[in-house]
Amino acid sequence: MNAFPEKIRIFDTTLRDGEQTPGVSLTPENKLRIAKSLDKLGVDVIEAGFAAVSKGEMEAVKLIANEGLKAEVCCFVRGVKKDIDIALKCDAQSVHLVIPTSDIHLQYKLKKTREDVLKLAEESVQYAKDHGLIVELSAEDATRTEFNFIKEFFAKGISVGADRICPCDTVGVLTPEKSYKFFSDLRKAFKDIIISAHCHDDFGMGVANSIASLRAGANQVHATINGLGERAGNAALEEIAVALKLIYGVELPIKTELLYHTSTLVARLTGVPVQPNKAIVGENAFTHEAGIHTHAILSHPSTYEPISPELVGVTRRIVAGKHSGSHGIKSSLEKMGLHPTGEQLKEVSMRVKNLGDKGKKVTDADLMAVAEAVMGLPQARPIKLEELTVVTGDRVTSTASVRLKLNNKVVSEAATGVGPVDAAINAVRKAVLVVEPIHLVQYHVKAITGGTDAMVEVIVHLRKGDRTATAMGVREDIVMASIEAVISGMNVLMTDYNKRGDKPAEKS
Ligand code: KIV
Ligand code: ZN
Repeated sequence: MNAFPEKIRIFDTTLRDGEQTPGVSLTPENKLRIAKSLDKLGVDVIEAGFAAVSKGEMEAVKLIANEGLKAEVCCFVRGVKKDIDIALKCDAQSVHLVIPTSDIHLQYKLKKTREDVLKLAEESVQYAKDHGLIVELSAEDATRTEFNFIKEFFAKGISVGADRICPCDTVGVLTPEKSYKFFSDLRKAFKDIIISAHCHDDFGMGVANSIASLRAGANQVHATINGLGERAGNAALEEIAVALKLIYGVELPIKTELLYHTSTLVARLTGVPVQPNKAIVGENAFTHEAGIHTHAILSHPSTYEPISPELVGVTRRIVAGKHSGSHGIKSSLEKMGLHPTGEQLKEVSMRVKNLGDKGKKVTDADLMAVAEAVMGLPQARPIKLEELTVVTGDRVTSTASVRLKLNNKVVSEAATGVGPVDAAINAVRKAVLVVEPIHLVQYHVKAITGGTDAMVEVIVHLRKGDRTATAMGVREDIVMASIEAVISGMNVLMTDYNKRGDKPAEKS
């Protein structure tokens, strides 16, 4: 076979394999939030968790299974009756029944023989089927298992009713070539059943291997949002979906325009940030600084954008820095309503480059301030902080109250949050909401000196409608650094020189 199957199913395992990312642990409520988002995205199966592992996991699987989602809700189980009983108690529609098959796993982990494993597969699949479950039978470490034994194992499971089979590339040792051969041979042996690819990314080939497997005969793919998962992670759902669509012309039932939103939600709730240069959903994936690039992008986006940002729900960003050209800076300033003369633009570009040469990251708030200085415009900002109080403690939710001047009127608001920074930002957003809804897209914090009195640098990325702005706050106090950054970014988004009607000064 040398073509993609007509229908490719997506089995999302963010909430199971993804949650096995070291340090990640999700509450049932947060798992439900992610599950709803995955359902909207259009995945076919949501592996909600491993219910037998804890009370919280049971609760999560049950919550998700009873949410009335369109996607099939699946529970991870071992070849153990107790696990299957728990999955049933949680109302899961299906089980992902996993049994190791490689000699190394049988000898050192399971301490069982191949015969034992075949019996286990037969008995546990039979038990799950007898109880009305859909069964996806996985062979763990299948790609390091003797191929004839893999066939024997799956044949045994299918003989008692397994609905789908999945040979796991547990330690990511496949290559695209090996995947192609492996799945072609497996498809020859099992003509009509759904075959899944489950590829790990230990060598950075998880997505390529998944795609090769689909071309060779797999018709379902396991994936996680942001490529989360054990060790180096699993194949990233967003990368598979967009590569299939744009490179191979294969449509999936995935609403790609929700990918960025889903990725951000998963990053926020798992606490695992997306690396900036990550394909599809990384902060830099649609951000341009270099002059030659921004000039070309502004005249024809496809010169440097193989994927249009709208396809994945992102807004393109042109940022200022030492590589910037005047076209990019002009375009950013025009979005703020600033129209410098040719001379002024040259001066702004030069000052931005100087800042870059000094190693400074130039945010949109910096760019606006530089342009104002060069153009002789007074810095009149719509938001001015008057007072901020934050109360936080050991067991309580943090509370913040804020008083600020908004377009010269005093506004006071209070809000709660999971911590003092969250509460303070929520209070400011609530106060500003009377005029504009402004969303916090990204929040980064780093300590730039050591010790408990370290200087803290906070960089935020905000969005208002289709405009975005970055801003920075640097203080010893993390709450104040955060609020400084947020208010400064909000001020960029709310200062519209087109509306203010200020005229640029004649001379720089
Ligand atoms: O990678 C793997 O082998 C797995 C199984 C436990 C399903 O995630
Ligand atoms: Zn896995």
